[in-house]
Amino acid sequence: MKTVRIDTPSRSYPVHIADNMLDRAGELAAEHVGICKAAIITDNIVDGLYADKLENSLRKSGFDTVKFVIPSGEKSKNAENFLLILNFLAENGLSRPDAVFALGGGVVGDIAGFAACVYLRGIKLVQIPTTLLAMIDSSVGGKTAIDLSSGKNLAGAFYQPNIVICDCSALETLDYEQRANGFAEIIKYAVICDKELFEGLKVPKSLDISDIILRCVEIKRDIVTADERDTGRRQILNFGHTLGHAIEKLSGFTLAHGKAVSIGMAIITKACENAGICENSCYNELVQMLNRYSLPSKTSHTQESLFNAAISDKKRKGEKITLVLPEKIGRCFLKTMSLSEMREIIKLGI
Ligand code: GLY
Repeated sequence: MKTVRIDTPSRSYPVHIADNMLDRAGELAAEHVGICKAAIITDNIVDGLYADKLENSLRKSGFDTVKFVIPSGEKSKNAENFLLILNFLAENGLSRPDAVFALGGGVVGDIAGFAACVYLRGIKLVQIPTTLLAMIDSSVGGKTAIDLSSGKNLAGAFYQPNIVICDCSALETLDYEQRANGFAEIIKYAVICDKELFEGLKVPKSLDISDIILRCVEIKRDIVTADERDTGRRQILNFGHTLGHAIEKLSGFTLAHGKAVSIGMAIITKACENAGICENSCYNELVQMLNRYSLPSKTSHTQESLFNAAISDKKRKGEKITLVLPEKIGRCFLKTMSLSEMREIIKLGI
């Protein structure tokens, strides 16, 4: 078992990574939340695959379990399901010493994490991510949220879990799209700060997925421990995301997040190369890497529609927006610019 310890100002917790971890979830969780009532929150797909395993493991360790299932997919991350979860916790008599177990991908982790934060002003939280993306990103660092009709993740809180348990065996049932979503974010980590990881990703057959997850979680640890509340350095994790979110939105959320972020990373890298900000080979190297993982690098949207969709990003502050710009593979930096500068950047990138 590989373990990364996350020490944020608000909480310290381990992220455990290995195969067959669901069988050990009860024993591992007991060390960090104590034996208590466990409210498992999951989605209808993960429920059929892994909930029994988790329940058996928890019961064997002495936990009393109850379970709430939401429909799979981003549409479920809404205020209605959020209230249903809170009422479920109340109806089942969950109290302060009890725990929410978020079993699933980013949607489940975000909505269940937010419910754990709000219910009784905060009960314990165990994140058990089952997708690659959730293992390397959303389960770590304490961002929890639901979507509002005006946009994604508009209501939420920073609420760190008590423990994160990554069962790499769960990745065997991931479909192509979910795997691609994960690899887009892994490539993002490599470009923002790890050239060695980037080189490793060039030989997919040689990869041990638990090593990759470990490395990404270590990178995220370094970033969130320095800036838990996303006021500075943590924004580096948004590489490719401002344009990625714009492309996702323009597709009516039919394009997967990972694919949209891939295109966002490619546009911004091409722009930086054309503006002389980053090394000349950067864009080609990135596009080759995205191709290797069957991820796209181009969009048919116009400069103006991308710009208009991008300026409604929640990270925009008045007439300024902060973008993550690459200098070379393995190094990016934050640049706050005017909206007209951003329009020029988009022009250089498409
Ligand atoms: N997913 C980006 C962050 O946790 O800040």
